[in-house]
Amino acid sequence: MPNAWAGSPWTRSFARRIEDFNSGDRPTRASAADRGVRPTGKLSYTDNEMMPPPYRSYVLVSLDRIARNYRNVRAAVGPGVEVMAVVKADAYGHGALAVSRTLIREGAKWLAVSSVDEGVTLRLAGIPARILVMAGFLPQEREAVVEYDLTPTAHSLDDIAELDRMAERAGLTLAFHLKIDSGMGRLGTRAQPAEIAAALSRLRHARVEGLMTHFASAADFTSAQTDQQLARFHECLAALHDAGIGVDCIHTSSTNAIGYARRDAWHTMVRAGHALYGYVSPPRGAGLEQILDVQPALTWKAKILTIKDIPEGTLVGYGGTFRAPSAMRIAILGAGYADGVFHRLSNRGKVIAAGQIVPIVGTISMDLTTIDVSRASELKPGDDVTLLGCEGEARLDAQQIARVAGTISYNILSSISARVRRVYV
Ligand SMILES: Cc1ncc(COP(=O)(O)O)c(C=O)c1O
Repeated sequence: MPNAWAGSPWTRSFARRIEDFNSGDRPTRASAADRGVRPTGKLSYTDNEMMPPPYRSYVLVSLDRIARNYRNVRAAVGPGVEVMAVVKADAYGHGALAVSRTLIREGAKWLAVSSVDEGVTLRLAGIPARILVMAGFLPQEREAVVEYDLTPTAHSLDDIAELDRMAERAGLTLAFHLKIDSGMGRLGTRAQPAEIAAALSRLRHARVEGLMTHFASAADFTSAQTDQQLARFHECLAALHDAGIGVDCIHTSSTNAIGYARRDAWHTMVRAGHALYGYVSPPRGAGLEQILDVQPALTWKAKILTIKDIPEGTLVGYGGTFRAPSAMRIAILGAGYADGVFHRLSNRGKVIAAGQIVPIVGTISMDLTTIDVSRASELKPGDDVTLLGCEGEARLDAQQIARVAGTISYNILSSISARVRRVYV
């Protein structure tokens, strides 16, 4: 693996370990024991006798889990409804390429990304599926939309006219999806249904293939917002129908509208993101039953760099925000906020060490996090702890972490930074 320190003997031996690890011939606990190597740390989700990867912080992604979640979303919506797999933001931190390949093998025909850049990255890696670019395209990205056969989303009447010009210039029928702002107040056209129908009737080269909207509060059963959004969307659909404009793909639902069985919002296609990665948001109010059987697919680990015993009164970390209330043992982990450990978890968050939930102590630094391991005396430098995932009965998922960090599970997953290696199991 090429890097700036490739000449150093240390780096060569480390690179060899990584190559061995990635070779598919991964060292297992059994094979390591044969060679007298002491297994360190525990792997959850897929504790399939694999030795921990050599990285100081890494995530394990179970592609089987993602495939299973996808199959369960498909089973929930039934054979008449297509499932578009949302793989934007590097598949919510799971790795867009590996996830896309897995889902295509499972039969996914449609992927959704946020930007042209994300779409081009998938195409350059040979992903053949239809790719919907959901969050707009800049003037300088127009050529790439055509060149890489991406499906753009129009968000205004101007976009519709521009797509027609792009199709004319390219000499092809460019299919696009049109997003209605039915009440989310974000992307999408707020034009009147009749104006939208008129703009689509003027198309000569491009073709509207899909009509979509996005819900703001699909898991909130104390609010009428989803019903109001749906009513507004149906008005647009009716106007198109009256103008003789047919659309193949009608999609309004993402994870929460699928999970809480808002069947009237499934139409011909749903866009599933969070559910593929194992999560459905908790409902507000007396909701319908949550029908999706999905499970988290990602485990996040960090290695212990140092362990030390500190006397009562010792201050830990920047600002001295933690003072040891008694003599204690602390471990310093090789992951910090630059890896995606939320700074807000300082003196609040927890990790799993040696199968037990233990507290984070002191302020989280850019590259380091300190934990209390007074009750986990068997731990040693080089051992892995779990930042997200489970070890035996102990479990910390993205929703639990998000509650403590004052954010949402999407934010936790998509913030695990690029320097944290993704390992597929
Ligand atoms: C337009 C749009 N569709 C679908 C999704 C997927 O949502 P979820 O991850 O809740 O399934 C998102 C995510 O933010 C989105 O912005």
